[in-house]
Amino acid sequence: MVIRLDKLISSQRSDISRSMVKDFCRKNRVTVNGVACKKSDTKVNTESDIVCLDGEQIAYKEHIYIMLNKPQGVVCSTRDGDSPTVLSLVPEHLQRPGLFPAGRLDKDTEGFVLITDDGELAHKMLSPKNHVPKKYFARLQKPWQESYAELFEQGITIDGGEKCLPAEFEGDMNNKNECTLILHEGKFHQVKRMFEALDNKVVFLKRISIGNLSLDKNLALGECMEILHKDVENILAIC
Ligand code: URA
Repeated sequence: MVIRLDKLISSQRSDISRSMVKDFCRKNRVTVNGVACKKSDTKVNTESDIVCLDGEQIAYKEHIYIMLNKPQGVVCSTRDGDSPTVLSLVPEHLQRPGLFPAGRLDKDTEGFVLITDDGELAHKMLSPKNHVPKKYFARLQKPWQESYAELFEQGITIDGGEKCLPAEFEGDMNNKNECTLILHEGKFHQVKRMFEALDNKVVFLKRISIGNLSLDKNLALGECMEILHKDVENILAIC
């Protein structure tokens, strides 16, 4: 794709505006293929031209995909309220204009949140039509019962008479208060409400995978890592 130099740089870095690029060019801080470029409206090829700012390459990616291990106390929103947002945990080098969390976890839920600026892919991932499976680890107030697997498979009816799609429950044989659950939809507070319908209570909840993409075991709470477009597309391929 051929685009203006100022557009290329400002689209990759949320801390740099087009007018800043103009200034950087005047000061010889921007090079294209090793040669200082004075004019910020110069057209560059996003595939073949090497653009550097202060000697550091600004590689062009149309979209960015970030895996966050969300800690408790952080909200899945783009706007600052009383609590910090997931976007405040994205490090500077991954910040881009237009980032948002693709899907929500409750404030007290931990785990995998996908953050992206790719509205189209996020829309497909979140569409109820696609039934993207999401796996949760839950710690319960009371021990799980042998009957749970079948009840979840049949579809739990939550408060207000809403029937949930079949879900896959697996109890931990070594710890009767711990289990995993795979959902194929995303109703408000769904996991908590499903266990409440079984007269139990979730005391800790963590999302551990979305589709075939698992939360990286080396990603500490509050940390982010960039993931590939193809990894996110694969989530949809298996649905
Ligand atoms: N279900 C819940 O109850 N809470 C979440 O954050 C996600 C799924």
